[in-house]
Amino acid sequence: MKDGDQQSAASGQPRIVIVTGSDTGVGKTVLTAALTRRLRARGVDAVALKPLCSGGRDDARALHAATGDALTLDEVNPWHFRAALAPVLAARRERLRILRPEVAARVRAVARRFELALVEGAGGLLSPLTEDGDNRNLLAALRPRAVLIVVPNRLGAVNQARLVLGSLAQVHRRRVAAVLVEQRRPDAASRTNAALLAEFAPGVPVIRLPWLVSGRITTRAAAALDALAAFVLADG
Ligand SMILES: Nc1ncnc2c1ncn2[C@@H]1O[C@H](COP(=O)(O)OP(=O)(O)OP(=O)(O)O)[C@@H](O)[C@H]1O
Ligand SMILES: [Mg+2]
Repeated sequence: MKDGDQQSAASGQPRIVIVTGSDTGVGKTVLTAALTRRLRARGVDAVALKPLCSGGRDDARALHAATGDALTLDEVNPWHFRAALAPVLAARRERLRILRPEVAARVRAVARRFELALVEGAGGLLSPLTEDGDNRNLLAALRPRAVLIVVPNRLGAVNQARLVLGSLAQVHRRRVAAVLVEQRRPDAASRTNAALLAEFAPGVPVIRLPWLVSGRITTRAAAALDALAAFVLADG
């Protein structure tokens, strides 16, 4: 058992990092998978979870691949639904009603076995998730050690990031970092967003994640992932 496991087991508190964002399709899965691989390559016993998947199970498969043999696909992703809709609706179409305490308990039970668990939400922070709430409610229930908010680095990103940060602050104030995902076609704001966001969101680290062509981790991407790894592993 590693030091982190001992700490976690001793306190009874699983070490959870939530990956959320400004919207669906912004790069949460790409980031969660890449960061999990990076952490594991450095010897951290990290896993990636996607408790609820709708519209197929692609995210869960990507996170399962990043986690290696540490977990089964069903442990990475206990609930999956066919319809490409918010999980609460997609579940209802299959006559299922998912409740937050059940989801939180499953996540905690798996997370407790590892040094760190990265948990990807579904959609954006306020997207409805279960019968009894949204991604923010689940985040609050899981009491994460850190939160990463993913936002595409294009015109409008500063507004979107600040909306998410403002909304997040109602349930979680400490240890939040913003990840600006570079775009295939950057615009004028892509160059200035990071500094402007840092100025208007004091105390929030802003990290730019390059666009990964064919998933390749360039030197810049590795530096971004290392900065994120240091952030999620730091105590505080
Ligand atoms: N940094 C990146 N490098 C390369 N491709 C990226 C990057 N970020 C996102 N993409 C691409 O953008 C698309 C959406 O990314 P991703 O699936 O990670 O988003 P998401 O926020 O997890 O979406 P969802 O809400 O469906 O879970 C995918 O095709 C993905 O490959
Ligand atoms: Mg995803």
